[in-house]
Amino acid sequence: MKGVILAGGTATRLDPLTRVTNKHLLPVYDRPMIFYPIDTLRGMGIREVMIILGGKGIGDIVELLADGADHGLDLTYRYQSGPLGIAHAISLARDFVAEDPFCVVLGDNILRGPGLADVAAAFAECEHGAGTLLHRVPDPERFGVAELDDRGMLVGFEEKPAIPKSDLIPIGVYFLRPEAFGVIAGLVPSRRGEFEITDVLNHYVRQGGLFWRHWEGHWSDAGTISSLHTAGLLAAGASA
Ligand code: DAU
Repeated sequence: MKGVILAGGTATRLDPLTRVTNKHLLPVYDRPMIFYPIDTLRGMGIREVMIILGGKGIGDIVELLADGADHGLDLTYRYQSGPLGIAHAISLARDFVAEDPFCVVLGDNILRGPGLADVAAAFAECEHGAGTLLHRVPDPERFGVAELDDRGMLVGFEEKPAIPKSDLIPIGVYFLRPEAFGVIAGLVPSRRGEFEITDVLNHYVRQGGLFWRHWEGHWSDAGTISSLHTAGLLAAGASA
């Protein structure tokens, strides 16, 4: 399995911290933010990783990570010319992925808990075209939100709904196969002008099933001042 880390976007919600610095270089406790998604992929046994870059200071990310040898990885980079959405950023990895299954981790997602090697292996062996991890949060309206029916079956996802149908969100870990690039090519931009990952996930729900597991560890994004603070506490070992 290959890995893709998304480190594009403009991170305006962290202004002025991100006015001249790439969000993914901001400190989360004792390390740059991007070290955490790297650890998440390495924990799955993934070695070949592409980083999608965009926004400010992308040369600093390359200078920090270089060829990835310090992290035990073989790293390549690709530039996203604008914040067109998570699904758009994923589409840029098409040639890198080639025929392999792959795992995408959002560059601002901090996980602390059990390793994901078993989950990655289960996805690689399963029939499903896509997968993700669901996690309970107190503020689901900030994220994609899962809708489940009375029997606990996943019905679909809504991106940042005003009235969330559950407190379960897909965190920024997505398991995909190369067929997903065809799905992304058929998407239209959402009302906020982005190609949404939740539209990709919904395609697979409609197709008769998405691979998903509960994430039982700790999790935070780090895209707002408040969540960046929470992520730091979590990385320091406190239960955020
Ligand atoms: O963190 C989990 C959530 O991430 C999911 O529950 C949502 O469904 C998903 O849409 C996403 O929501 P956010 O609004 O938090 O995503 P954000 O725009 O902050 O982007 C997350 C990361 O993805 C960020 O570190 C940079 C990268 N990114 C984002 C965009 C829009 C890119 O590389 N390119 C992009 O165009």
